[in-house]
Amino acid sequence: MRFKPENSIAIVTGASSGIGKCLCELLVARGATVVATARRQHRLDDLVQSTLKSTLGPGSIIPVVGDLTDPMVRRKVIDVACQVDGGRIDLLINNAGIGAIGPFADASAERLRQIMEVNFFAPLELTRSCLPFLRKGRSPVICNIGSVLGHRAVPNKSEYCASKFAMHGFSDSLRAELVTDNIQVTLVSPSTTRSEFFDSLVDTEAGQSSKSFGSWPPEKVARTTLAAIQARRSEVILSLGGKALVYADRIAPPIMNAILGVR
Ligand SMILES: NC(=O)c1ccc[n+]([C@@H]2O[C@H](COP(=O)([O-])OP(=O)(O)OC[C@H]3O[C@@H](n4cnc5c(N)ncnc54)[C@H](OP(=O)(O)O)[C@@H]3O)[C@@H](O)[C@H]2O)c1
Repeated sequence: MRFKPENSIAIVTGASSGIGKCLCELLVARGATVVATARRQHRLDDLVQSTLKSTLGPGSIIPVVGDLTDPMVRRKVIDVACQVDGGRIDLLINNAGIGAIGPFADASAERLRQIMEVNFFAPLELTRSCLPFLRKGRSPVICNIGSVLGHRAVPNKSEYCASKFAMHGFSDSLRAELVTDNIQVTLVSPSTTRSEFFDSLVDTEAGQSSKSFGSWPPEKVARTTLAAIQARRSEVILSLGGKALVYADRIAPPIMNAILGVR
C-alpha cells in the first residue's frame, strides 16, 4: 500500500533550511500535519508564516525549536506529534545533518563526536522512541536522508562518510526488523545539493571546497524523496553523478579507487 501524505502526521528534522524545509512545504501542500524541528526559531517561524500566507495547501506546520542531540527536545517532538491524533505517527524523516571537510589526522575529537551525534546517534534514538507510535501509523515510513558518501567514501570527509555509512547500515538492518510491523525504512542518498550545508561545516578551514559531478537544488531532492516515500521504496540514490559513483564502485572498486587517487 502506498504512503498517502493527505491527513498524515509527519515529523521532519532539519526543517529550517535546504532539503528539510522543502520537504515540509511539499507535505503541507499535500495535506499533512508536519512537526518541523530545528534549532533556528526564526527560520521555523518563517516556514509557518509562509505556509499560512501562501495557502500552500491544506496541511499545517507545528514548529518545535531545539537541538536534536538533546533527549528532552526529541521527547518534545514526539509528544507534540502524538497530540495531533491520539499517538499516531505516519512518517518520520531523519534529515538533520552536518558535515566537515579536511584530513582526519588534523581534526579534533570533538569534530568526530559532533558529526556522529547529529547524523547518527540523535536520529537513531528519535527513531527508537517513535516506533510505538509508528506502529499505529497508516502505511508508516521512516525516511533516513543518507548520502552517496554512505555508499562510497572519499578522502577528507572521513567523519561524514562514517556517519552516513553508519546510517546506511542501520537503515538496512532496521528495515528487515520492521517488516512484520509493516513499517518501511526508506534510505535516500542525495549527492551534492545546493543548500546551506556547506555554510555550516564543523571545524573546517576557510576555503575548503567539495568536488561534485552535477548538483541538485533542494526542491528537486525533496520532490524525489517524497516520491520514494509515497512508493514506500527501500532505497533511492539521487542524481546521475551519484548513481555513477555508487554503481561504478559496486561493479569495479579498483577503477573508482584510481579515479579518487586511492592506492
Ligand atoms: N547538501 C548536500 O550536498 C548533501 C548531500 C548529500 C546528503 N545531504 C544530507 O541532507 C540532509 C539535509 O542537508 P541540507 O543539504 O538540506 O543542509 P542544510 O540546509 O544545512 O540543512 C541542515 C538542517 O539540519 C539542521 N540541524 C543541524 N544540526 C542540528 C542539530 N544539532 N539539531 C537540530 N537540527 C540541526 C539545520 O537546522 P538548524 O541549524 O536551524 O538547527 C538544518 O535545518 C543532511 O542529512 C545532509 O547530510 C546533503
